Amino acid sequence: MNTQKNRLEELKTILRQHSYHYYVLNDPIISDSEYDHLIHELNAIEAEHPDWITPDSPSQRAGAEPAETLQKTEHPAPILSLANAFNTEDLIAWQTRIAKIDPAVLSADYSVEPKLDGLTVVLHYENGVFIKGATRGNGIIGEDVTLNLRTIPSIPLRIPVESNGPQPPSYLVVRGEVFINKDDFENLNKKLEEAGQKTYVNPRNTAAGALRQLDSKNVATRPLRIFCYAIIQSDEQVPNKQTERLEYLKSLGFPVPNEIQHCQNIKCLEQAYNKWIEIRDDLPYEIDGMVVKINDMELADSLGIVGKDPRGAIAMKFPAQEVSTKLENIGVKVGRTGVLTPFAELEPVQIGGVIVSRATLHNFDFIKEKDIRIGDRVLIKRAGDVIPYVLGPLTSNRIGVEQKYIPPQTCPECGEPIEHPQGEVAYYCVNAACPEQLIRNIEHFVARNTMDIVGLGIKIVEQLIAEKLIQSPADIYKLSKEDLINLEGFAEKKAENIIESIQKSKSQSLNRFIFSLGIRGVGEVVAQELTTHFKNITELSKATQEELENIEGIGPNIASALVDWFASPTNQNMIKEFILSGIDPQIESKDKPSLPQVLSGMSIVVTGTLQNFSRTEIKETILKYGGKPTSSVSKNTSYVLIGDNPGSKATKAEELNIPILSEQQFIDLLSSK
Ligand code: IVH
Repeated sequence: MNTQKNRLEELKTILRQHSYHYYVLNDPIISDSEYDHLIHELNAIEAEHPDWITPDSPSQRAGAEPAETLQKTEHPAPILSLANAFNTEDLIAWQTRIAKIDPAVLSADYSVEPKLDGLTVVLHYENGVFIKGATRGNGIIGEDVTLNLRTIPSIPLRIPVESNGPQPPSYLVVRGEVFINKDDFENLNKKLEEAGQKTYVNPRNTAAGALRQLDSKNVATRPLRIFCYAIIQSDEQVPNKQTERLEYLKSLGFPVPNEIQHCQNIKCLEQAYNKWIEIRDDLPYEIDGMVVKINDMELADSLGIVGKDPRGAIAMKFPAQEVSTKLENIGVKVGRTGVLTPFAELEPVQIGGVIVSRATLHNFDFIKEKDIRIGDRVLIKRAGDVIPYVLGPLTSNRIGVEQKYIPPQTCPECGEPIEHPQGEVAYYCVNAACPEQLIRNIEHFVARNTMDIVGLGIKIVEQLIAEKLIQSPADIYKLSKEDLINLEGFAEKKAENIIESIQKSKSQSLNRFIFSLGIRGVGEVVAQELTTHFKNITELSKATQEELENIEGIGPNIASALVDWFASPTNQNMIKEFILSGIDPQIESKDKPSLPQVLSGMSIVVTGTLQNFSRTEIKETILKYGGKPTSSVSKNTSYVLIGDNPGSKATKAEELNIPILSEQQFIDLLSSK
């Protein structure tokens, strides 16, 4: 009995350390399956002895019984906000203002932190155990969301996380920001889209919605994270400098942003501001500014508060990514898979130096829920590379002429009736002959990262479809020079070049070919994975749901999308035609990877322009040699491959001490075995 209890304690300690390494340090030390094994063992002991379950057990991260309401809870001290500065003049004005209160400000140093676009939470620890967590609420009273917060893997349930960490104060209250990484958000939406469910509008609202859920089991399925940045209360002395407090929080096991900077003067802050605007889009999470804090907290506190804003800190907001403009009309786009997506036709407006005249409206439910009307003034957001999207209407601007929107009953492109499967949010055009779907399919098929048929641009594809010269991607291989010359605007040379690149595309690799088919959920990475299990398209076409699900990275949705796709007679026919035209790429031996897997287990980030590889080629090469191409630099990155004019990822690599490779060194590495 006793030994079992000891084992339980031991498991808790081991699991705590592993999830800390995985979620906070981004540096796992055991595999996922080993972790699952340990969790399984812990669950088994707890199932046998439910009275041994404690709130700090790793098993409690899975969520608990749904609550009926969220209880109100008073914060131990007001949870303050921040005043804003929008440029360096505002920053200097702030310094001048507070220097009048205490001239010591003029020689102060500063902590500079990312201003995460998330939600404030307040975490309470008693004797190192996480006992309560609350939302900000009105700053005095918040809502108790302890059960929801427990599901966030990077929130320590017991501190210090590592046995050599400092002993925490017996009572400690920490402030942090809950958010969702951009990549995690996109993956979450991709999964929802595949399941025909409603996608989320943006990471911030998704995090906010999740935190206030009554059923914590649902919260556990959202990829929430946290960064901590302040100590609200402690019954023991904590470091006086903010930069040291952050280090202290880190040493206890709290996640703290990597991007903290320590500035000695205003000049440094100005430089930091410009640098952060530049690196903003490269960060894994959304930030809407940087926070400047007087580092000496005693001095900062002595400056007092104006309203809800402490004088000792300021938020330097970045140029707006949100603007308002008029919604002139609502259009509907037909995607490759027949999904209809509404988009906003806008009065053109500048956002961050780019003119925006279109933005996505996500889906028809979104228009209804937000009551977006044609003619409304709407708020638009454009963040980095993300497609601009509508946040909602500014209803106070209505003058009564705005019109409610009714979704179409028929496909705007082919006029066939639309289907709206039960339980799904998406509306589909299910007409396999819908010309718009065909255009999107062929556009994907010929693209640079698929079959790479140079010269076959969208305008030509549209003409070929209109002339009924192509009705499926396989028809591309039946085109003759004469077919092309007869089209408008075609000269002999142009036709010859296209025919030549069509011929050349016949030797594309199997992974590109699979990806080019546009099967739902089968992107570049899944396609590559499939080629390690099936040596040609015929083998893949015979795969069963079960066989596919056994492949890493392929879940039930992708597996059934593949099975359904190959079951369709039209698609079977198309595959036959491909093979007859000589498109039947093979993998030499499916048991042995054909190339030495020298990059196995490595994740590689590429930045800048390379001489020997296009973007797609370098990704493929990394995959072929067993590596994983990733987009942002983290502690987990094995190498950063740097070409000409590298972006801020190179700087980030240096900061994190990630080994850097030149293009030549990368090539040498490939041939090192
Ligand atoms: S300090 C008195 N630090 O920004 C301390 N806030 O616009 C006030 N935020 O309500 C907050 N990252 O939700 C601070 N590193 C950071 C932050 C941060 C994000 C949020 C926080 C705050 C809002 C103010």
